[in-house]
Amino acid sequence: MADTTDTTTRPDWQAWQRSWDRQQEHYLPDREERFRTMLDVVEAAVGRTPRVLDLACGTGSISDRLLTRMPDAHSTGVDLDPALLTLARGHFADDKRVEFVRLNLRDADWTDHLPHRQYDAVLTATALHWLTHGELVALYGRIAGVLRPGGVFLNVDHMPDPTTPRIDELMAVHDRARRAEEKERGVLDWVDWWRALEEEPSLAEVVAERHRVFADPAKGDHAADQMQSPAWHVEVLRHSGFTEARTVWASPRDAMVLGLK
Ligand SMILES: C[S@@+](CC[C@H](N)C(=O)[O-])C[C@H]1O[C@@H](n2cnc3c(N)ncnc32)[C@H](O)[C@@H]1O
Repeated sequence: MADTTDTTTRPDWQAWQRSWDRQQEHYLPDREERFRTMLDVVEAAVGRTPRVLDLACGTGSISDRLLTRMPDAHSTGVDLDPALLTLARGHFADDKRVEFVRLNLRDADWTDHLPHRQYDAVLTATALHWLTHGELVALYGRIAGVLRPGGVFLNVDHMPDPTTPRIDELMAVHDRARRAEEKERGVLDWVDWWRALEEEPSLAEVVAERHRVFADPAKGDHAADQMQSPAWHVEVLRHSGFTEARTVWASPRDAMVLGLK
């Protein structure tokens, strides 16, 4: 039967993926460097055909970089946000190397709903600061539970050092000035980007659903005031079943920690 779908109302998935990436780069100008470092570690530790769990995947940017660099890899993307998952599924269309599952990382049994029992690598970027530190301790234990021996976990996120408030403030002032200049040039920030997505006719409903989910603190609200230092993450990983853990990348404000199972 002929496809009668009205293509004029179908979102341009690739354009939304690019615009998500640009919005994230507004906050993280070195975002691609983070992904590259992450995949360097994956390649070194588990090779070029890994089964990866892209945790709090958003639109699937990590999966996208993974599959571009390692075409024989496989990825499972997990997120709670129905709108970002819709963009991810649209972007990857019928690509059999990736699947997306809607799960809440705060739930005790979320790993039971994954399509695979074991992964070679669990990767996550700019997401786990949404959880409280108690939730993160529990999550790190569950991540260790789905990694095979020799597998790796990498988390790159905001990880301030509580001993350097003056340095942090200097860098924050500098970053605010950069973002203000970008905004002048029309770059969309988080709020602008979500407003733009609301304007996409076929996505209005799923964006409204997303706002309902994240308005409920029990389900999805941000715990950004609970951000922990790299040393804290490393210590928790060592107590969560990882044989070795340490920082493998850092910027003036953020860091990437690696746990080796
Ligand atoms: C800033 S975005 C980063 C997305 C992606 N990792 C990237 O780098 O583009 C943070 C992501 O964390 C997800 N998230 C927050 N809390 C979550 C939870 N409890 N369970 C699953 N995903 C969650 C959000 O929906 C969002 O997609």
